[in-house]
Amino acid sequence: MLNFEFKNPTKIIFGKGEIKKLSSEIPENSKVLMVYGGGSIKKNGIYDQVKTALSGFDIIEFGGIPANPEYSILLQALEIIKKENISFILAVGGGSVIDGVKFLSSAALFEGEDPWDILAKSIRTTKGLPFGTVLTLPATGSEMNSSSVISRKETRQKLGMGGPGLFPVFSILDPEVVKSIPQRQIANGITDAFTHVLEQYMTYPIGALLQDRFAESIMQTLVEIAPKIISDPSDYDIASEFMWCCTMALNGLIQKGVPGDWAVHAMGHELTALYGIDHARTLAIIAPRHYEYNIETKKEKLAQYAERIWGIQNGSVIEKAKQAIEKTEDFFNSLDIKTRLSEYTDDYKDSGKFIEDSFTKRGLTGIGEHRSLKPSDARKIVEMSY
Ligand code: NZQ
Ligand code: ZN
Repeated sequence: MLNFEFKNPTKIIFGKGEIKKLSSEIPENSKVLMVYGGGSIKKNGIYDQVKTALSGFDIIEFGGIPANPEYSILLQALEIIKKENISFILAVGGGSVIDGVKFLSSAALFEGEDPWDILAKSIRTTKGLPFGTVLTLPATGSEMNSSSVISRKETRQKLGMGGPGLFPVFSILDPEVVKSIPQRQIANGITDAFTHVLEQYMTYPIGALLQDRFAESIMQTLVEIAPKIISDPSDYDIASEFMWCCTMALNGLIQKGVPGDWAVHAMGHELTALYGIDHARTLAIIAPRHYEYNIETKKEKLAQYAERIWGIQNGSVIEKAKQAIEKTEDFFNSLDIKTRLSEYTDDYKDSGKFIEDSFTKRGLTGIGEHRSLKPSDARKIVEMSY
């Protein structure tokens, strides 16, 4: 196992009816900015639950954070934070709202001139304005990690940021929220969480037995519950498994002591920036082709995954590895997630070149667990996914 340090300060409050605990988690006398998305919380009762729980607090609301949180909209919220002396931010939503709030948390205390620098110059956030979350959509793990991804339409960019100052103080995870989530978003959540595990697992063996088994247990659970949660999102027990899998997939635990890949996400973010394709779907487009392209360096872990997740016992290492990739693609397809870029847009032909150029410009000249994939390799992988 590689050396590691692990600290995750986010308090998780998990279970039915727990949103009411908000009032005891937000510091007394806080001036709160409550941030949410396009309005789903007003239809499914979460808004009312939050407002009731916070009845004693001084709250200003900021709604309208879109999927793939948009920089120009976040700047409007930042202005309110500064003008109104907000002391605590509450995110009520999925990954987009939570990520947007992480940007706000960082930008509120940023001393530089242009807050875009936090993203463009990869400035790590060591201290942010405190914030908590009420998660409405299991998927990203943002509720228990310190990363964020922000989009800027004007420049067709989608960039990451993070740092130890960006963990939520608390996150409330009530699996009852799952029943109102549309199927498309549930499928996205399963795909995103599953790919998060793959990014931290599908590298090369280093003998981290426990870490491998943590990762495998999350994947096995997701495979087991996927058809059930798609057919009945109101099943509370299954929704609980789904929600906890998504959090555990990206709260830092399974990444400790092992190499990480994350090339699928790097390419996927570019596809969202170019075409607006849902985050999880970009991963399903890239992941199978990425594993095919890199099968030589990943074949041992692919074969282990074939055996342990998909029960494939026969064949050579390389044969098992190939079958594992097919099974992964079949799994995404079984969720009604398409795995070819041309199934999402007709305008795909220049995307390989665009991504090669974008990586070169950003200095992303070595990605993947060996930091050996060049922008020209990314182009080939994207072109294989057409
Ligand atoms: O905006 P509203 O009206 O609330 O509707 C949302 C949105 O349209 C809807 N929704 C959320 N909860 C709902 C609900 N609809 C009905 N009932 C509910 N309970 O779902 C739609 C999608 O929401 P969004 O927050 O965009 O989805 P997700 O959680 O998948 O987040 C995606 C974003 O997170 C980033 C992605 O890149 C993308 O920008 N990621 C963040 C990560 C992190 N911080 O660690 C890691 C991930 O890899 C990912 O990159
Ligand atoms: Zn993701």
